Amino acid sequence: MVSEPLLNAVKVTKSFGALRAVDQVNLQVYPGSITSVIGPNGAGKTTLFNLLCNFISPDQGEVFLAGEPIHRLPPHRIARRGMVRTFQVARVLSRLTVLDNMRLGAQGQTGENFWCTWYQGRAISRQERQLRDQAMAILESVGLAAMADTYAGALSGGQRKLLEIARALMSEPKLLLLDEPAAGVNPRLIEQICEYITALNRQGLTFLIIEHNMDLIMSLSDQVWVLAEGRNLVEGTPAQVQTNHQVLEAYLGC
Ligand SMILES: Nc1ncnc2c1ncn2[C@@H]1O[C@H](COP(=O)(O)OP(=O)(O)OP(=O)(O)O)[C@@H](O)[C@H]1O
Ligand SMILES: [Mg+2]
Repeated sequence: MVSEPLLNAVKVTKSFGALRAVDQVNLQVYPGSITSVIGPNGAGKTTLFNLLCNFISPDQGEVFLAGEPIHRLPPHRIARRGMVRTFQVARVLSRLTVLDNMRLGAQGQTGENFWCTWYQGRAISRQERQLRDQAMAILESVGLAAMADTYAGALSGGQRKLLEIARALMSEPKLLLLDEPAAGVNPRLIEQICEYITALNRQGLTFLIIEHNMDLIMSLSDQVWVLAEGRNLVEGTPAQVQTNHQVLEAYLGC
């Protein structure tokens, strides 16, 4: 690929005590791509996501988004710059409705600011309407519109995953990081999630996806990065990675 990476992680490192969970890991995500991170359990994939979004600070290394360093920015400012993540165990707020969960995904709304609240009551109600319309349109596209007023706690595991992706879209990200979007999801919903990712990618959204579901990885990814024991093992197209003997060894231990 010829363009500059949208996300570029350089020698990112994090230790927990004596354990080097992520050890000098490099990663590049190109604009418009679906890029995946795979590796055995404990390889450091989720920790890498935490480092990319600065949920935990790296001991060493740098992360650039669209060429700008982001490794010293707090997560909410990274989100404002267009990189948003979901979690391995979906973090939806069970006691809020689906629609209220969606509202929480929007950023930089006028109503967040006290003075704006004071002076711009009318603007807020207009914005609130726009927010609701935006949320309903996204919920429609994931098939959750009928559940807008349902408590999120009543959703199935797969529906929660979908809601988390839908909520992330409320902030109109450029790059969406998904940590195991198919884990614990029934096959029909996995298919729906895959179709949704493909459709969003066609509209220009770039993805970085952690997944153990190899069918999903191989069918969706442009580029696959393999981690093992906290380090880069190999990277390549799905076909290259699938036949790589180092990858087979890492997974099968043979
Ligand atoms: N906060 C923490 N404190 C201590 N050790 C941690 C912490 N977070 C992760 N680890 C350890 O770091 C290593 C990498 O964990 P991580 O969750 O990043 O792996 P993973 O590749 O996401 O695994 P999985 O596929 O099972 O989700 C593991 O050995 C894990 O036990
Ligand atoms: Mg993980």
